[in-house]
Amino acid sequence: MANNKAKMILEKDFKISEIDNRIYGSFIEHLGRAVYGGIYEPGHPQADENGFRQDVIEMVKELQVPLVRYPGGNFVSGYNWEDGVGPVESRPRRLDLAWRTTETNEMGTNEFMKWAQLVNADVNMAVNLGTRGIDAARNLVEYCNHPGGSYYSDLRISHGVKDPYKIKTWCLGNEMDGPWQIGHKTAAEYGRLAQEAAKVMKWVDPTIELVACGSSHRNMPTFADWEATVLDHTYDHVEFISLHQYYGNRDNEISNYLALSLEMDDFIKSVISIADYIKAKKRGKKSINLSFDEWNVWYHSNEADKKIEPWSIAPPQLEDIYNFEDALLVGCMLITLLKHADRVKIACLAQLVNVIAPIMTEDNGPAWKQTIFYPYMHTSVYGRGVSLNPIISSPKYDSKDFTDVPYLESTAVYNEEHETLTIFAVNRHLEEGLELAVDIRNFNGYEVVEHIVLENDGNLKQTNSAKGTPVAPHSNGNAKSENGGVTAVLPKLSWNVIRLAKRN
Ligand code: AHR
Repeated sequence: MANNKAKMILEKDFKISEIDNRIYGSFIEHLGRAVYGGIYEPGHPQADENGFRQDVIEMVKELQVPLVRYPGGNFVSGYNWEDGVGPVESRPRRLDLAWRTTETNEMGTNEFMKWAQLVNADVNMAVNLGTRGIDAARNLVEYCNHPGGSYYSDLRISHGVKDPYKIKTWCLGNEMDGPWQIGHKTAAEYGRLAQEAAKVMKWVDPTIELVACGSSHRNMPTFADWEATVLDHTYDHVEFISLHQYYGNRDNEISNYLALSLEMDDFIKSVISIADYIKAKKRGKKSINLSFDEWNVWYHSNEADKKIEPWSIAPPQLEDIYNFEDALLVGCMLITLLKHADRVKIACLAQLVNVIAPIMTEDNGPAWKQTIFYPYMHTSVYGRGVSLNPIISSPKYDSKDFTDVPYLESTAVYNEEHETLTIFAVNRHLEEGLELAVDIRNFNGYEVVEHIVLENDGNLKQTNSAKGTPVAPHSNGNAKSENGGVTAVLPKLSWNVIRLAKRN
């Protein structure tokens, strides 16, 4: 029996917001083996007539990814989108200065859009505001979204795509605050450029939504001033400001590592404050929402990446192999995004295949699921509806960088249409199970139908591989409906999904 006890109250009317499904988005960059050898491997036994790996398509569908950001990332800041359209045999090979590789341009906009349709995802298209600018950006919108009768829309039609893609969400460049970025800019330089690019992109298609670049991470020296300056310029023209953040357990301190989602929470709150400050300053009516369009764990592959032969084609890069503890942090980060569903309307797990990804592939071999695949899949599949605001009381601990870290990280999603209620929970306790009692108030007739658990027998560094997936969830959790509520013991260091449905 657990000595650790936590309580949670769920009420239908304690709502944060309807969840925008785009928070379960992901990301494919022309980087490493994400595109070549990941989603696209002609000659592979599982490749379809387009060269797309069907085993990968099936896994992406399992994740129900609603939105995929493309084509970068740092790559986009040196990318000429024109290189990737038209006859494949006449496309140029280019040096990709962002990742010091060679880009063959075999895949480009139309191929990627076809793949996105096959996995039922929308695309979050990024434009190059590094080496290019307003002209290339507005031309790409015209190429993708204008029906016909103009140079670029007719060019698309001549490339075999009659109907416009109607891409709704667009990123105005990538990490323009970072000195590593091709065409790095000051906040004022970027703010002006983003404002003018946004203006004309919307003149081409007024239905699009735009994301301005925020900081590359919370510890950037320009953080906060960057957001304020960029939004000062772009407030009238954009709907979103972006956030990026990656974490790693570099000091091998699990308690501290699992608390990093508290920092993510703080980052989100800070960016909301800055966006609201600009709204107030401008006496504005609209709130700028948040696009957390790069987030994940990223550190395992840092050393290996230093050894990559420059200018190779699609080398293994950023191939983090995730372990069990990474899956727990990813679960905590997903819960954190859900807690901010009123302002975080887009989020992209970076990335999707082979590059810091939930899905890995072997060249000419099988695809397999990383540990982080599971919390991402569970929230994407069961976390649609209304994000509830639970009242939680949990015992707490202190770690190296954090105080008052709750052992219980949890939230819940109510789907009125399907009459389901899903509790997502992580027990951060290293040694003890957490006894959870949930008061479900006015969810009359709701009962536990499944308690999914991702746990591990002591080896926090356990990884999966093409040979097997020792880190995989089971449905033998002990949650049960009791006295109009729910009780469960969440095993030490575990990810839990407690699914309730209304009894007929
Ligand atoms: O996702 C990997 C890289 O991380 C992206 O290209 C860049 O935007 C970020 O620094």
